[in-house]
Amino acid sequence: MKYTWRTTLELLRIIPPTPTGFRRTREDIELGGYLIPKGWQVCWAANMTHMNDSIFPEPSKIDPSRFENQASLPPYCYVAFGGGPRICPGYEFARIEVLVTIHYLVTGYTWKLCCNNNKFSRDPLPIPTQGLPIYIEQKNKL
Ligand code: HEM
Repeated sequence: MKYTWRTTLELLRIIPPTPTGFRRTREDIELGGYLIPKGWQVCWAANMTHMNDSIFPEPSKIDPSRFENQASLPPYCYVAFGGGPRICPGYEFARIEVLVTIHYLVTGYTWKLCCNNNKFSRDPLPIPTQGLPIYIEQKNKL
């Protein structure tokens, strides 16, 4: 299910459920010509990093092949699950949950969105503004 997971990573890149997080600097740091003093709180923003076209060319395009060779991505550029010592400890569990859910959904059901002009807003998590009502039907009903 490699392609399914790459597709999932790509969707998490475009709309990361956890768009930002915080860290506190343990020492003075110089970054891009700016000094960030020791003890300051900094906010990392996954959605901005993920939309940086020097890292992900044509960032708005859905392209699961970006993740064919994850090791080629520069460190800390794909941060849907955070990074470093506090990276999401649920990563592997989330992967299994997502793959199992998508597998049963795709192989067992067909569905149709009820709202065609749905958008999403952040609250701060991304939420469809009209909810996500669907018509769902089981395939091969006995
Ligand atoms: C698609 C699913 C998920 C996404 C996108 C996600 C994303 C994240 C992100 C971005 C962080 C912050 C990491 C950092 O600061 O570097 C985080 C932390 C965390 N996640 Fe997840 N997560 C997911 C699923 C899960 C699941 C299934 C669990 C548990 C079963 C989990 C448990 C945690 C915990 C406990 C932390 C806090 C870790 C710490 O502060 O040391 N997550 N997650």
